[in-house]
Amino acid sequence: MTGDPLRFAVFGHPIAHSLSPRLHALFAAQCGIALEYVAIDAPPERFAEIARKFFDEGGRGANVTLPDKRLAFELADVRTQAAQRTNVSNVLTRRDDGSIEAHNTDGAGLVRDLCERHGIRLNGRRVLLLGAGGAARAAAWALLDAGVRDLTLANRSFARACSLAETLVQPGRVRISEWRSLESCAAFDLILDATSAGVLGAAMQLPAALVSSSTVAYGLAYGKAAQPFMAWARDAGAQSLFDGLGMLVETAADSFEHWHGIRPDTDEALRAVRGS
Ligand code: ATR
Repeated sequence: MTGDPLRFAVFGHPIAHSLSPRLHALFAAQCGIALEYVAIDAPPERFAEIARKFFDEGGRGANVTLPDKRLAFELADVRTQAAQRTNVSNVLTRRDDGSIEAHNTDGAGLVRDLCERHGIRLNGRRVLLLGAGGAARAAAWALLDAGVRDLTLANRSFARACSLAETLVQPGRVRISEWRSLESCAAFDLILDATSAGVLGAAMQLPAALVSSSTVAYGLAYGKAAQPFMAWARDAGAQSLFDGLGMLVETAADSFEHWHGIRPDTDEALRAVRGS
């Protein structure tokens, strides 16, 4: 018996640009799993209704992207530790008892891309994290778990950086900087841009002194949205620059593994989407 293919989706708004259907089709072909994976436009005001309908009609799992990640977290009946730490979810799964589980693979995907793909050692490093939204929260937890020596948080709204620092409960390792005080910080080993400035097409003012010739710069965005931060880091003299496409592929692979119990080959998938 072959039966109907398992049904999966990605929810977001807008969603037409999403690479997730392509990635999951590639992974499924690699692993010999029959599945259907579609992109579903879900404006925030209709997210709960659309997601519930998908799961009521037999959907097994869904990735969730902007601006619905917080709503996905709220919709769920149960939440993994990774979701609870960030208050947002990029993976929803219907469990055997019909309940919906919220999970978050963003932090794990980031660290896997940094360490396994780019060979960056995080242990003992001084790290600057720009932003304090959902993406930054996931990154902060994962970087601390990976053993960074200290993590400096800087956000346009200082209060939001302070509340992120409080939730991290790591007083010895987490520092907070006002954006304008970044001028007086010494260069960092690693600088991550987890803001949405690039996606929004907004300019960010950052001092070049944050960068030395051994600094690694990593933007969590990819494509055009990653360009302003990458251009700033290149001009400031960073040793190496990476965008977040590898992170996207790793987070997709983590959700695939969460659903199917098999880890696909992400290098092949990254080559396929990088070229498109
Ligand atoms: P996400 O879930 O992608 O993290 P978010 O929760 O809306 O999205 O967070 C966006 C982050 O980008 C925030 O840290 C935001 O700063 P504020 O908290 O001050 O709003 C940051 N951000 C957005 N536009 C920015 C800009 N032009 N300059 C600097 N930071 C910006």
